[in-house]
Amino acid sequence: MPIKFHKQSREFHLYNDQLSYIIKVLKNDQLGQLYFGKRVVDRDNHDYLVENTYRPVTSYVYDNDYSFSLGNMKQEYPAYGTTDYRLPAVEIKQPNGSSITNFTYVSHRIYDGKPQLNGLPATYVENDNEATTLEVLLHDDVINVDLTLIYTIFNNYDAIARSAKFTNQGEHDYQLTTAMSMNLDLPDDDYDWLQFSGAWGRERQLKAAHLRPGIQSVGSTRGASSHMENPFVILKRPHTDDFQGEAYGFSLVYSGNFLAQAEVDPYKVTRVQLGINPFHFSWKLAPQASFQTPEAVMVYTTNGLNDLSQNFHHLYQQRLTRGYWRDRQRPILVNNWEATYFDFTEDKLLSLAKTAKDLGIELFVLDDGWFGKRTSETAGLGDWWVNRDRLPDGISGLSAKIHQLGMMFGLWFEPEMTNKDSDLYRNHPDYIIKTPDRHASHGRKQYVLDFSRPEVVDYVYNMMVKVLADGKVDYVKWDMNRNITECFSAAYPADQQGEIFHRYILGVYDLYERLINKFPQILFESCASGGGRFDAGMLYYAPQAWTSDDSDAIERLKIQTGTSYCYPTSSMGAHVSVSPNEQLQRQTPLKTRADVAYFGAFGYELDLNSLPETDRQQIKQQVAFMKKYRQIFQFGTFYRLKTPFDSNIVAWLAVSPDKKQAIMGYFKILNDVNAEYRRQQLPGLAADLTYQVSEEDGSQIGEFTGNELANIGLVTTDASAGENKETTDFYSKLFIFNAK
Ligand code: GLA
Repeated sequence: MPIKFHKQSREFHLYNDQLSYIIKVLKNDQLGQLYFGKRVVDRDNHDYLVENTYRPVTSYVYDNDYSFSLGNMKQEYPAYGTTDYRLPAVEIKQPNGSSITNFTYVSHRIYDGKPQLNGLPATYVENDNEATTLEVLLHDDVINVDLTLIYTIFNNYDAIARSAKFTNQGEHDYQLTTAMSMNLDLPDDDYDWLQFSGAWGRERQLKAAHLRPGIQSVGSTRGASSHMENPFVILKRPHTDDFQGEAYGFSLVYSGNFLAQAEVDPYKVTRVQLGINPFHFSWKLAPQASFQTPEAVMVYTTNGLNDLSQNFHHLYQQRLTRGYWRDRQRPILVNNWEATYFDFTEDKLLSLAKTAKDLGIELFVLDDGWFGKRTSETAGLGDWWVNRDRLPDGISGLSAKIHQLGMMFGLWFEPEMTNKDSDLYRNHPDYIIKTPDRHASHGRKQYVLDFSRPEVVDYVYNMMVKVLADGKVDYVKWDMNRNITECFSAAYPADQQGEIFHRYILGVYDLYERLINKFPQILFESCASGGGRFDAGMLYYAPQAWTSDDSDAIERLKIQTGTSYCYPTSSMGAHVSVSPNEQLQRQTPLKTRADVAYFGAFGYELDLNSLPETDRQQIKQQVAFMKKYRQIFQFGTFYRLKTPFDSNIVAWLAVSPDKKQAIMGYFKILNDVNAEYRRQQLPGLAADLTYQVSEEDGSQIGEFTGNELANIGLVTTDASAGENKETTDFYSKLFIFNAK
């Protein structure tokens, strides 16, 4: 069993073929962290790793003992104020105003399999022999609260999933004000911190900086994981790159306010924490009540960031995403938003769908504007019934017509929102999040429904079920277009207002879960003004997410590259849109737009009818090409070969699991004249296989062994002395590798 308990030393060793994670019950019965890294041989005792140093200006736990300070210990789930001055993983406010705690070891359980987290998204196993779980029960005697730390190590993924659970066994109410999902104290600070920052239209851009003493953090206070930061960070050694070197990845399976931080202490210990943002959070822990934190997933590699990412991709594709669509190729869609915006009639939609069908497109998605009085962004959100002025035969009529064409039918919802100009708001003005006696701010003229209240979730559920059951709907785009302000719920007392952000997200998860159970074959795509809630939590419910409202191919190189550090290509909604691009006015070739979008859940979002016939013919070929290679693009092993964060050339590679097929997307952002004679080395192929290399139109480039491609590389030069008229700015080319 890959978790060992050494009774004498009270040490736990969690391991698989690649990883070891070692923790110990310290002499004060709290839990210490000894090692997380490459697999090491098991041994009975690692006492030599426990620091017992005397240091000036240090506080010590035991009388007449200058050796044991929690401030000098690497810990599993530290508290503040009992000799450790660093930021804590837990804080509990008690009736007398104190927040001192002392959680000490009581018992543990080791078992095959992995528990699910009630009401929360989490990785899972299909068979108990896929993973082993350790639960360590700790207890604070003064407040009579249990803390269970839950660790699961997977056999086939280099990953450990963790969470913490609090149960109040006492008689008093407490306020849990900090409850991180994970804490990891690493023994040195020689790491670069990588975060994925951005804003609307430019989500998840890689930013890196070397760790420095003190605290560095990213987080969200918006009620959603946000466009601005992502609940995923990496610590890597300075020399680590995509192809080699040591790195840790930390991902939170959660979609609400989060905090990811690293604190480097004076002795160069790096404390990494990830969890619900303690800012504006508190949870009333009543007698007998429990609080379960979201799950954090930790991946470790010595083989570079591609390997780190691939571990997340495979785990999240196979054991976070669920249901009918988990392993299925995603339908090629056309979405009417950028084709029509709010200006559509049924005829216009059907004409777009017919053209799409002729081009081989499989799914027609009707975006915003089909319901209530929704003819502009000022009205109708919350009224989830069809607008018969626009769609006389209803959603069921339109969906039947789309199905008659031989296409699937998809529909847009924004379940968490309402406009003041809506029947929902007129009937239930108390259903929105707002603080009494204060102005309620808006975003896009809309207000956030109070999903912390089960009756509000029920209300929306009932409306959605009616639409989804009446019309046959195969796909739902679940949008969410503003963040929470004046956070307060009319349904909760003063001492529970700190819970609302978290309860809101629990309400979102609940609605998703109920709809998935009711309609297991619907493909959900999450969206939040593009990628404003692209996180591991959402992938548990919606296997794909609209990566960004910015569909410009060149911007997408950055957005999709940044997203790929944690999330698989199958999860990234990626559409070909019009040129000049609607967000940026940039003109890019239709080929480049498709070549970028192939590496995702592919589709089109433009008026196919207003394109020149030559473009339509090209799209027909693109659709056929994507159908042929979709399995590799969406489920192959994905490599970043060159990234737009440090190169004018971007190269992505997707390799089939048997390594017999691969596709490289090769993109040159700006053209260059008289440039170097370029080669691209290709990892991930089978050294001893010979590959025929061709372009997508079948023209042959040559034959090379995997060994040559990995070491010598493939010549990718597309302009010698700038004479090649084919290459322009925003140029792209696909290289297809087929083993003989
Ligand atoms: C958001 C989404 C878009 C589109 C519009 C509709 O901005 O990100 O894709 O659905 O809403 O209002």
